[in-house]
Amino acid sequence: MRDSAPVEFDVRAGGGARDYGVVVGRGLLDRVGAYAAAAAPGVVRWIVIADDTVAGLYASRVAASCSPDGVDVLTFPAGESHKNRAQWADLTDRLLAAGAGRDAGIVALGGGVTGDLAGFVAATYLRGVPVVQVPTSIVAMVDSAVGGKTGVDTPAGKNLVGAFHPPAVVLVDPEAVGTLPRRQRAEGLAEAVKHGAIVDADYAREVGRQASALLAGDVSAVERMVVGSIRVKSQVVSRDEREGGLREILNFGHTLGHALEAASEYEVTHGEAVAVGMVLEARLGERVGCTRPGTAAELKALLEAVELPTAPPPGLDLSRARAFLSSDKKVRKGRPRFVLLSELGAVDDTGGRWARPVDDRVVSDVLESA
Ligand SMILES: NC(=O)c1ccc[n+]([C@@H]2O[C@H](COP(=O)([O-])OP(=O)(O)OC[C@H]3O[C@@H](n4cnc5c(N)ncnc54)[C@H](O)[C@@H]3O)[C@@H](O)[C@H]2O)c1
Ligand SMILES: [Zn+2]
Repeated sequence: MRDSAPVEFDVRAGGGARDYGVVVGRGLLDRVGAYAAAAAPGVVRWIVIADDTVAGLYASRVAASCSPDGVDVLTFPAGESHKNRAQWADLTDRLLAAGAGRDAGIVALGGGVTGDLAGFVAATYLRGVPVVQVPTSIVAMVDSAVGGKTGVDTPAGKNLVGAFHPPAVVLVDPEAVGTLPRRQRAEGLAEAVKHGAIVDADYAREVGRQASALLAGDVSAVERMVVGSIRVKSQVVSRDEREGGLREILNFGHTLGHALEAASEYEVTHGEAVAVGMVLEARLGERVGCTRPGTAAELKALLEAVELPTAPPPGLDLSRARAFLSSDKKVRKGRPRFVLLSELGAVDDTGGRWARPVDDRVVSDVLESA
């Protein structure tokens, strides 16, 4: 099956940046060099950036595909806590010390942390060099590698410093999911269910039906799921290259999700928080009257199938979650805004606006009865 033809998507980057391709296919980790050269012909020297876990698993194959003698691999310690300005500075200094010039390009090999961090290094190095995104976690494959957002965290919050830096190409090898821990797989499936929930009900239901194969890392199931999710994400970001319009629908589940994530001091992971957030925001929609009754229950069942939580953990301080809600970045005129569904697979569009405020009492009610 290794020879099955890769699936390719085109994504509009906007803002004067070149459009780019997303390629999904088995065995691509051994063909990064050829795709990278075709996508960024000006680059004469590729440098791979990976966290130490992913580097140990895949960097030598990727480096060998970039040049017969291999290429430099820069590593950093795995984990969100290293997606920061100190690590950005360190990687940048190591590129300078290695003499990387304007004809260099970066291969960001890894999960979303690496994509964001190495992408931001590429965005700023010598005012910007090309980056090839090679996502290895499901989160990165279905979400962070496509869209061009890069950046780092600061003590004041996540992703507060960054840049739009669309990749030269995104190369997704579903076989990488084989080494990903099960909980990390579930984490990424939250965003896959989200893609179905906002655009394509059949796709959402298919993710539910394939849950056990996906959680087990079955390569064919993962490949089909990644293709389905990238189809949704690439369409949405192509129609709205920067934030402000349609892209907002990708925030479904995220207004309450971010609040729960922050209130738990990140004990609840992003994917888990988004899973809970989607169920609660579907309930909000049902309460407000725009979401077809039964949608929240169906979403809940889908998310349970992929082993994600659908209610806040017992003991979580909901008043903290409410406080975070009012400081969420989507707050307009002091009120949090929500993306609400009309039914599974479709977002309710209120007069061209994709997100809207909801009465505080309804939000509190839904949170408290969860
Ligand atoms: N730029 C965007 O649009 C966007 C969108 C969503 C998320 N993100 C960011 O993505 C990050 C989360 O991504 P993540 O969950 O991939 O985190 P991550 O990069 O930390 O990866 C999770 C863990 O899995 C390991 N790993 C990755 N691939 C592996 C593989 N194939 N085999 C074994 N282990 C593997 C990593 O070493 C790490 O320990 C957050 O920082 C988030 O802000 C960005
Ligand atoms: Zn998310």
